[in-house]
Amino acid sequence: MKKTLLSGSTVTGDLTIGNYIGAINNWKKLQDDYNCFYMVADLHGLTVYQDPKAFKERSLSFFAQYIALGLDPDKNTIFLQSHIHEHAELTWILSCLTPMGYLNRMTQFKDKSAKNEKNINAGLYTYPVLMASDILLYQVDLVPVGEDQKQHLELCRDIVSFFQNRYGETFKLPEPYIAKMGARIMSLQDPTKKMSKSDDNPNSFISIIDPPKTIIKKVKSAVTDSGTEVKYDEEKAGISNLLTMYSVLSGKTISEIENDYVGKMYGHLKIDLADLVVETLKPVQEKYADLMKNKDHLHQLMKQGSEKARVVASKTLDTVYDKVGLYPEHF
Ligand code: TRP
Repeated sequence: MKKTLLSGSTVTGDLTIGNYIGAINNWKKLQDDYNCFYMVADLHGLTVYQDPKAFKERSLSFFAQYIALGLDPDKNTIFLQSHIHEHAELTWILSCLTPMGYLNRMTQFKDKSAKNEKNINAGLYTYPVLMASDILLYQVDLVPVGEDQKQHLELCRDIVSFFQNRYGETFKLPEPYIAKMGARIMSLQDPTKKMSKSDDNPNSFISIIDPPKTIIKKVKSAVTDSGTEVKYDEEKAGISNLLTMYSVLSGKTISEIENDYVGKMYGHLKIDLADLVVETLKPVQEKYADLMKNKDHLHQLMKQGSEKARVVASKTLDTVYDKVGLYPEHF
């Protein structure tokens, strides 16, 4: 029996080269060895204001980007979170078991509410409970998550014990899946921060679907440190970030690249890196364009994913409703 794994990305901004290198490229490698659920986290996207029309389009676009990036809709279960109403329902049940004290400790909530003073809504606060539901509905063994989501996964594990102490064995206890080679790609404008798809400054990230011209412009304007030597140095976050990207995308080691650039300057590396990013994304963008041309086909694939997901999710939710003592409608 293959182990089950689930991950997802919140629908805000556009998927970036950082998502590709740090997450989705790893997801792709897992699809043969695990039973994988990959979710477009649209409900999580609503914790910030979204223009309804643009949001709808973006959810479809995310779905297409997952596939264009190499996730196979036949091997994996790829679906939109909101298509499975069980996510919202389990969230309610788990909310009633999650102490506010635990949610108060979530650093992402603190960061996001500091940044988002005008819209600190209850959804932003209970966001990790929804995430726990995403995971627990599918009886998942492993959750590939980045550093920033580890605390949420810890909370999910705590919620499992709150639930099970009261109602008995119900959920699989999920473990974090730490990718062997999950490089962390930093912002092009502030290389001490992770590259984020929801950054206000679009020059700080390269989106998977940025046109080549934009990619070249963004790489060229990446902030680098004083100095000229192309050398990895923890103190020099800018050049080190560009080297990391180059290394992951080319398959060369950092020291091989350093050797190639002896006597050359930052600018040379930037030009080559821009080309490499453009080349890497070219087949992805072609596949994406192709997919987006045929919405009916995409809708069909979406339906295929949600039908598979629903079977598992509804079974878990039925068990939960029964265990907590909700009165059944059917006998
Ligand atoms: N919160 C995650 C993020 O923004 C996305 C997400 C939602 C997720 N539900 C999940 C990731 C369940 C892993 C498992 O990155």
